[in-house]
Amino acid sequence: MGQYFSNESLKSELRIIKVKILNNEYSFYTDNGVFSKSQIDFGTRTLIESLPLDVLRGNVLDVGCGYGVIDIILSKVTSANYEGIDVNKRALHLAEMNAKLNNCSNVTFYESNVYANVNKKYNFIITNPPIRAGKQIVYDIIMNARNYLEKDGVLYIVMRKEQGAKSAIRDLAEYYQVDVICRNKGFFVIKCILR
Ligand SMILES: C[S@@+](CC[C@H](N)C(=O)[O-])C[C@H]1O[C@@H](n2cnc3c(N)ncnc32)[C@H](O)[C@@H]1O
Repeated sequence: MGQYFSNESLKSELRIIKVKILNNEYSFYTDNGVFSKSQIDFGTRTLIESLPLDVLRGNVLDVGCGYGVIDIILSKVTSANYEGIDVNKRALHLAEMNAKLNNCSNVTFYESNVYANVNKKYNFIITNPPIRAGKQIVYDIIMNARNYLEKDGVLYIVMRKEQGAKSAIRDLAEYYQVDVICRNKGFFVIKCILR
């Protein structure tokens, strides 16, 4: 197992973390070099816990899926199909391992730099965007989501107030009807409906 990703320069220290959320318990493989390797991120948890699970249906895209936490958890509590994309090969490999570990059949993962390899439209796009990658990438993800959403599609974003959520909300309003559905300890969950 230790050598599952030999072309990554960062030493592998594969481990399993346990996550209790929405009344279920999950196990996730994590490793060095992936986002939130020791525990589920607070923003991710806030996002998952504030989503209207009863309306999630059809095809859902998670942009910047990491080791697959959002897709795997939501796939267990909704009947939608989930696809996760990321640029981090190690995270994608872990995501595939995690789908098996949690017996998920309705999740798939693939490599894509933002939407470069995305060639269909989705009913929902969900993202905890990579703030560290810079504003250009974050804006590419959230502003261009509109080109990958079905006509009645919805985008959900979690973002920290201090990491630009307020200006993002203002800028998103050019293309979407924007609503903040949850505020939790500085994290905003932003719902965007195509105009
Ligand atoms: C904040 S993390 C969220 C990870 C996971 N969804 C979660 O909630 O734990 C953002 C993810 O975006 C990925 N990412 C960074 N730049 C990207 C890009 N250009 N295209 C796609 N994903 C990217 C990172 O590798 C990282 O896994």
